[in-house]
Amino acid sequence: MPTASALHFVGEATWSALSGNPATTEVWESVHEVPHVRIGQAADLVVVAPATADLLAKAAHGLADDLLTNTLLTARCPVIFAPAMHTEMWENPATQENVATLRRRGAIVIEPAVGRLTGVDTGKGRFPDPVEIFELCRRVLARGAQGAGTQDLAGRHVVVTAGGTREPLDPVRYLGNRSSGKQGYALARTAAARGARVTLVAGNTELPDPAGVDVIPIGTARQLREAVLKAAADADAVVMAAAVADFRPAVYTTGKIKKIDGQEPEPVTLVRNPDILAELSADRPRPGQVVVGFAAETDDVLANGRTKLARKGCDLLVVNEVGEHKAFGSAENEAVILAADGTETPVPYGPKEALADTVWDLVTPRLAETHP
Ligand code: CTP
Repeated sequence: MPTASALHFVGEATWSALSGNPATTEVWESVHEVPHVRIGQAADLVVVAPATADLLAKAAHGLADDLLTNTLLTARCPVIFAPAMHTEMWENPATQENVATLRRRGAIVIEPAVGRLTGVDTGKGRFPDPVEIFELCRRVLARGAQGAGTQDLAGRHVVVTAGGTREPLDPVRYLGNRSSGKQGYALARTAAARGARVTLVAGNTELPDPAGVDVIPIGTARQLREAVLKAAADADAVVMAAAVADFRPAVYTTGKIKKIDGQEPEPVTLVRNPDILAELSADRPRPGQVVVGFAAETDDVLANGRTKLARKGCDLLVVNEVGEHKAFGSAENEAVILAADGTETPVPYGPKEALADTVWDLVTPRLAETHP
């Protein structure tokens, strides 16, 4: 649904052709369908992206002079505004008051990004990263605007590990795994959205840093251990979503291992890595800290999960089934969260953000008990 200004930037034909839908600013088209009321009533979510200073002002004051602003007045679903404007316009008290008004009424107004703006200037007001907007939309659809806005982790510090470790064999080769880091990043992003200070210890991922999260990159299991123990010293919760290598090559060869004609390769001997989850659970860096582990299983998923929960000694264990096409690299996940008190919480197949939110839903009451 374009505004008249949007049609200056991109023509109506392009919007229609790319979306496969009519694109109009008009309330006087297809009047028999009463579009200015029907579209808003039928929507599950309205996303205004980009939201200009003018549009925010109109929305805050309830003006309704085109199809979009009419729709905003009739929508009963959550509404997200993704502002984009020059810094001066964003910081102007008029805009700030309009934003505060919209937020007070339950709309979600994303903070604009900082960076290059249209023209030569740089600053706050840049259109938020579309990936972040998309993730927020999924979160709001899963939890509703109220749920998506809860700040139940405010004042808490949480540590999340993500991705996979790589154990070097020589300067060019390593033993690694297929973890993409998406689940850990979803945990970090959702914790930040719920108000937590978040340290994300990230192993070998190619994902952009989530906004407002302190990211510590690591390579090996031993580096991960060092980073986690340091960050966990004042943490309320530690969530070990990273796929940590259980073994590493016993010997690191400083020069590249060469093949020698007529000779078989040397076998690779492996040694155990420290089990960081078990260590943290047994000897919590901060008393009362909540520790959460992940278990990826291929067979006897629940039985193996229960045994692992007991063996590791953590408070919660997120158990998911992995296989050729499951979990790794995908944006979706399905799991059962086992708790040390015997409860089981199944999480249906859905976005990794939804699973992340369920983990925090289970962590929060445990924090309240131990760390009022
Ligand atoms: N983990 C860890 N340190 C390791 C290995 C794993 O902290 N050296 C953590 C992972 O981050 C995850 C959990 O332990 O949260 C489960 O890891 P997994 O490899 O499934 O457990 P294992 O004890 O290795 O069990 P198994 O290999 O028998 O499945």
